[in-house]
Amino acid sequence: MDTFEAIKSRRSIKSFDIHHKMTADEINKILESAILSPTSYNIQNWRFVTVTDQTLKHKLSELSHGQRHVSEASLVIILCADLNSWDREPQRYWRNIPEEPRNSLVDSLRSSYRGKPQQQRDEAMRSCGMAAQTIMLAAKSMGYDTCPMKGFDYEAVGQLIGLPEDHVISMMVVVGKAAKQASPRGGQLALSEVVFENKFSQV
Ligand SMILES: Cc1cc2nc3c(=O)[nH]c(=O)nc-3n(C[C@H](O)[C@H](O)[C@H](O)COP(=O)(O)O)c2cc1C
Repeated sequence: MDTFEAIKSRRSIKSFDIHHKMTADEINKILESAILSPTSYNIQNWRFVTVTDQTLKHKLSELSHGQRHVSEASLVIILCADLNSWDREPQRYWRNIPEEPRNSLVDSLRSSYRGKPQQQRDEAMRSCGMAAQTIMLAAKSMGYDTCPMKGFDYEAVGQLIGLPEDHVISMMVVVGKAAKQASPRGGQLALSEVVFENKFSQV
């Protein structure tokens, strides 16, 4: 599928065919795409928890205020991030480059995040946001639909998936075969309202 076609036709789907099962290869293809998403310093701080088990999906749906698309979807991806990835053998993020530039990147990375919890969290959300869009566009181009989600009990979902203490959940993306098309778009703002040439105009 053409990239623009995928961007335009991606919509948040709220009803999926509960009987459809994705193959392991399809799920893998989506995840292989997700890990090509860009991250600052190539930190690759995302961690993906994939759920296909019906009982678990049902539990996730209950923890999502009963949103049915969570249990109907073939796959639920919980996008998490490791807040300490900046300090976990960061040399491996540039293992393909010569040692000297690699060491200077490691030094720079460490000073960007060491002792800076807000930066660590911001990076988690930036990286997961990028990966979420990659997942949704990859799924769309494979004939699947998706819904990004934040409407769930983060604490309880964290407990359910055994989220490590130094990790955070950013969002979930559910993936499946649409059973019902999306309603017409809610109403996109005009470019003139959201784009500013060079700077915000003075008010
Ligand atoms: C971060 C985020 C969280 C969202 N959370 C939910 C959610 O919990 N449940 C839901 O049904 N849709 C959720 N949505 C979908 C939005 O409602 C949807 O993207 C928006 O209305 C625009 O529609 P579209 O995605 O079809 O273009 C979420 C979207 C984003 C980006």
